[in-house]
Amino acid sequence: MNAASDILIIGGGIIGLSLALELRLRGASVTILSRENKAAAAFAAAGMLAPQAEGIPPGAMRDLCLYSRSLYPDWTRKLEEITGIDVGYWPCGILAPVFEKTEVGEEWLEKTTLNLLQPGLNPEIAGAHWFPEDAQVDNRALMQALRVAVQDLGVNLRDGVAVQAIQQRQGKVTSLQTTVGDWQAEHYVLATGAWAKDLLLIPVYPIKGQMAAVQMSGWQEELPLQRVLFGDRTYLVPRRDGRLIIGATSENVGFTSQNTPLGVRDLLERAIRLFPAVQNWPIQEFWWGFRPATPDELPILGTSPCDNLTLATGHYRNGILLAPATATLLADLIWQQKTHPLLDSFHYARFFHPAPTNQENGQKMSDRPNATLVWQTPSEIQPTPASDLLTIAGKTFHSRLMTGTGKYRDMAAMRQSIAASGCQIVTVAVRRMQANAPGHEGLAEALDWTKLWMLPNTAGCQTADEVIRVARLGREMAKLLGQEDNNFVKLEAIPDAKYLLPDPIETLIAAEQLVKEGFAVLPYINADPVLAKRLENVGCATVMPLGSPIGSGQGIKNTANIQIIIENAGIPVVVDAGIGAPSEAAQAMELGAAAVLINTAIAQAENPVAMGRAMGLAVEAGRLAYHAGRIPIKAYASASSPTLGVINSANPN
Ligand code: GLY
Repeated sequence: MNAASDILIIGGGIIGLSLALELRLRGASVTILSRENKAAAAFAAAGMLAPQAEGIPPGAMRDLCLYSRSLYPDWTRKLEEITGIDVGYWPCGILAPVFEKTEVGEEWLEKTTLNLLQPGLNPEIAGAHWFPEDAQVDNRALMQALRVAVQDLGVNLRDGVAVQAIQQRQGKVTSLQTTVGDWQAEHYVLATGAWAKDLLLIPVYPIKGQMAAVQMSGWQEELPLQRVLFGDRTYLVPRRDGRLIIGATSENVGFTSQNTPLGVRDLLERAIRLFPAVQNWPIQEFWWGFRPATPDELPILGTSPCDNLTLATGHYRNGILLAPATATLLADLIWQQKTHPLLDSFHYARFFHPAPTNQENGQKMSDRPNATLVWQTPSEIQPTPASDLLTIAGKTFHSRLMTGTGKYRDMAAMRQSIAASGCQIVTVAVRRMQANAPGHEGLAEALDWTKLWMLPNTAGCQTADEVIRVARLGREMAKLLGQEDNNFVKLEAIPDAKYLLPDPIETLIAAEQLVKEGFAVLPYINADPVLAKRLENVGCATVMPLGSPIGSGQGIKNTANIQIIIENAGIPVVVDAGIGAPSEAAQAMELGAAAVLINTAIAQAENPVAMGRAMGLAVEAGRLAYHAGRIPIKAYASASSPTLGVINSANPN
């Protein structure tokens, strides 16, 4: 048994190192067990300190990020004093150019001003947001400095030691099993980034990022880029030594190592589109890393189920930025038992929650033990407990709102509305996309298909034969967008142009065939309970009854039939079409629908972005209400205050 120090930190990434430094400076004896220091996400990163460019919305996360950014000047100065290593902290600001002008805030730079300040941008760029307080640091130098600093100050940094298990007894960690024997300490910290789940049941998973670096031409005379450029899923981070870091893909592919042709192509194409000169600059390096993501994209900080174990992981895209704040707040907690209110929002317990009913698996609330603990993701729009995820054909989603791409005024409105709605499934008309129909040009590029699940639909088809042909095209389309395993199809067979009502016979024929071909079939139907059951029996993944005709905004005109469909269904029932207002979306969810699909009511609203968000909230509220169980409707009033035990003034005795 290795009796270590006061504090044993598992993980030698930026969080483990920064916390070790802070604890050591406060007088603690600290050991770090680090499996492979080059695997750290901070080593793979570009070093942006970008709470504003990353668009982190107001709330605890933004507060934490801004606080951490404010610590950077002193923190890096202190590190440089200890180690003599220049960590390249550079408050250069971040420019975020956009191709389509949408919302214009205070820091908006018009095209002409922008081009004067930053020549060489793609001429199609419409302007840029300017974030003067965002900054950058040379992350590799920073990691090196942290390693030197902790060792200089007497931290026992053990490289090449993998922790295999955390031994616990009666709510306390008793020791760590490692590749070099067991280790003990007074207190333990889990800071293993994307690998945290291997040691403790907390929802952290890897999101791979592929990266590149090129050498900027002419940098000796003047750096062609003197500010970070932050574009659409790309960023360019210029270093003072002429190196330009290009980031990053965002791939949910587990721990699959290496750069891939697709990843590299995507990375370079986006960078060249933003700043065309990149195409001729010599390549220096390609690499990759794994961001530690959590379901709500917020870190997991603070106490754990074990008294003597602190959690410091899940920093996702912001580990470097959040290092000094994490170190300060957690050192306060561990060493001074001082807890900061900001930490409340990042506690692991947010993912654990008494389990509600799960309609899809047929369990009722009363069947469940009250205190069952399950994962929960309480972001603003998607507070979905994992027991209540929407599962369609084995794929899970935390949003129960599906949206479409048709009828928007422009791409920007579509993109922002979809984002505001929090939806994860977006249906796309295969025929319109193939034909590049008006409003569908550039659709493939406009949305982030790494985050959204495409639901190809067969709109425009009248017969089963057409549906089958278009469904196959849809599958190819999803593959081209990188969704290799996407076999979903929203089956629409609509012969009638006035009411756009689906043909039940053609639908059933097409569904049978497509199920045989391995599709996950989501048929759009009239609210016919018998047809719904037939479709379920042939193997459809959901049924999608309409509330009223497509685009009519009439709301749910067939409540009784939809209720019967829901009651009989063993598959998710998605109310599709006719919803005009959030109250109607909530109504569908209150009935027990597994999800709703809304397009026109969002796309054609006066403010589609606000309506997208309203629909997202309504779906969430409706689902919660469904679980909460509404009161029965009574014929007469019943007083809110109980009358039992009230003194009867007419008869005081
Ligand atoms: N912080 C940028 C990224 O994770 O790609």
